[in-house]
Amino acid sequence: MSLGDFMLKRQLEYIRTITDFMPETAIVLGSGLGSLADEIEIMNTINYNDIPDFPISTAPGHKGRFVFGKIEEKNVVIMQGRIHLYEGYTPKQVVNPIRLMKMMGANKLLLTNASGGINTHFKVGDFMLINDHISCFVPSPLIGKNDNSVGVRFPDMSQVYSKRMSDIISNTAQDEEINLKSGIYLQLTGPNFETPAEIRMAKVLGADAVGMSTAIEAQAAKHCGFEVGAVSVISNLACGISKTPITSEEVEETANKIAPLFKRLIKKSVGNF
Ligand code: HPA
Repeated sequence: MSLGDFMLKRQLEYIRTITDFMPETAIVLGSGLGSLADEIEIMNTINYNDIPDFPISTAPGHKGRFVFGKIEEKNVVIMQGRIHLYEGYTPKQVVNPIRLMKMMGANKLLLTNASGGINTHFKVGDFMLINDHISCFVPSPLIGKNDNSVGVRFPDMSQVYSKRMSDIISNTAQDEEINLKSGIYLQLTGPNFETPAEIRMAKVLGADAVGMSTAIEAQAAKHCGFEVGAVSVISNLACGISKTPITSEEVEETANKIAPLFKRLIKKSVGNF
C-alpha cells in the first residue's frame, strides 16, 4: 500500500519504532467482546493514545489498543476496541485503524460486533455471519480525495464479504457445533438505539440485524484490498421486536455470556483462514 497519506505514514513509523511484527489477519473486536485479546499469545500491545493523531476509543467495553500476537500459530493484530462515528470522529478517522492495519501487512480482516436482531428467527446470544450490509444514512469513508495507490475511486461492492472466509467460519461453526445464522447487517450512525418505525424500515429494506459500526469499516477495507469476513453477536432484539427498552448494559451482558463460544468460533476460524 502507498504511504501517500502523511498521517498514516507517521503512524506506521511510530508502530515500527515499537514492533516489526507482521500480522497476517487483522481482527476488530466489538462491544463486550474484547476479552478475546487478553487470552491470546501476546507479543506486544500499543495504546491508541500513544499513536500520533490516532482516534481514541471512548465507547463502553472498548479498551483502545492494538494487541499483536498469535492465534493458532497465525500472526494477528487485534483492535481491542473500535472507533465509531457516533463518538464524533469523521468517517475518515473511523477507518484510520483499518487502513493502518493493512499497512502493517495484514491482508485478511475479521470484523465482529454486537447487534440488535431484526429477523424474528433470531434469539439473543445467536451468532450471525454477515453476508452483506446496508449502510443507512452513514456517510461513506471514501468521500474526499482518492489515493489511487490505495484503491480505486469507485470500488465494487458486489461481494464485500469474502465467500472463502465466510465458508471457513461456517465450516468451523459446524465442526465446533456452534449454531451460526447468517444475514444482512444494517448500519445506522447511533448512538441512540432505533425507534420501532426505524426498525420496521430496516426490516422492509431486508436487514436481519442492526448496529452502529461495521459497514463503514468493511467499505474502507474492501477499498484498500482486504479480504473481509464478519460475525455479529445478536446481543438484544431490536427495538419493537423486543418489548423492553434496550440498554448498553444488556448488550454487554449478552456479550459476556456468549464470550466462551464466541472466542472458540473466532480463534478456530482464524486458525483456518
Ligand atoms: N441497535 C443498534 N446497535 C446495536 C444494537 C441495537 O439494537 N444492539 C447492539 N448494537
